[in-house]
Amino acid sequence: MNINGKHFRTVWLNENDPQVVNIIDQQILPHRFVIKKLHTVSEVVHAIHDMHVRGAGLIGATAGYGMYLATIEAAQTKSFDEHLNRSAKEIAAARPTAVNLSWAVNRQLTAIDTRKPVSEKIKIARDTAIAIADEDAEHCRRIGMHGVKIIEAISKKKNGAPVNILTHCNAGWLAFVDYGSATSPVYEAYQRGINVHVWVDETRPRNQGAGLTAWELLNHGVPHTVIADNTGGHLMQHGMVDMVITGADRVTRVGDAANKIGTYLKALAAADNNIPFYIALPSSTFDWMISDGLKEIPIETRSADEVKYVEGLCDNEIKKVLITPLGSEAINYGFDVTPARLITGLITERGICNASENDILQLFPEKS
Ligand code: MRU
Repeated sequence: MNINGKHFRTVWLNENDPQVVNIIDQQILPHRFVIKKLHTVSEVVHAIHDMHVRGAGLIGATAGYGMYLATIEAAQTKSFDEHLNRSAKEIAAARPTAVNLSWAVNRQLTAIDTRKPVSEKIKIARDTAIAIADEDAEHCRRIGMHGVKIIEAISKKKNGAPVNILTHCNAGWLAFVDYGSATSPVYEAYQRGINVHVWVDETRPRNQGAGLTAWELLNHGVPHTVIADNTGGHLMQHGMVDMVITGADRVTRVGDAANKIGTYLKALAAADNNIPFYIALPSSTFDWMISDGLKEIPIETRSADEVKYVEGLCDNEIKKVLITPLGSEAINYGFDVTPARLITGLITERGICNASENDILQLFPEKS
């Protein structure tokens, strides 16, 4: 995507030093646009854990590059394999819910053939990291091509009046390598001249909607309005939402979807108001090993301080302010699970399907 006319991805190898990984630092967006350099596995783990990079697809792609850095580090130790496996465990444990993380680490472990010489292993890891990132971008582009058909159909039904799309958290290009999942159909619709408007849930406690989705849409010129998290139900009751699209961090083989905390409540409100509720995801977000989202998807719990304090710009400085009594307890569940029965459809790189095992497997027969 473009920022001030220049194309950026969210993660890439440094042009001058290919042993360094560049990321857009999402901790300080939308107030500052800073490119951060990652030199070591431990910096990669820190960047994922502390959410300098975040969003399922981008976590996966960064993990892929982290494994490449792990091969460079392992080459300087006595036991290459031991170091690589230890790094793989550290990277995979950086955040628990988005399955893209372990998917990317395992893909690297499979690709790095232990019988090859070390220099060859480093090259394989580098090529695989680039392939994971390229695929992520391409899959998101295709999600846009499929998802735009839904927006087009609603637009026709409304005789060109704005299609109002509600989204939660940030499942935009910042959450992936490029394009985004939930926002990809929106960008494609906008590109085709379809009248679209996005309701952006602020997404407490970390405000990825207010800070990141709004910034993306603003940069792209897409009409949007930021709303407090609890507003969606009211808008739906008053005919002001035509569809909901969110991303996902892990989707079971039967179609239950974990996404940012609060997504489930939007799905309930959408069902009560007969509003289509879509989840957009690349296939790297399916967890083919599990069927019961509520019981089997690990839900991240983060620091209570993210609930108790809010961060923002004040006098041109990023500041953190306390919004609860200091002594109050707070708890911070990062994700919830929306059961398949509340999901109208899944928008994937291979097309759109119902959130059911049978329909998912028709698109991905190799997982039968
Ligand atoms: O905690 P985050 O910001 O990594 O959570 C991101 C989300 O929940 C997104 O909606 C999700 O990753 C889907 S889009 C990649």
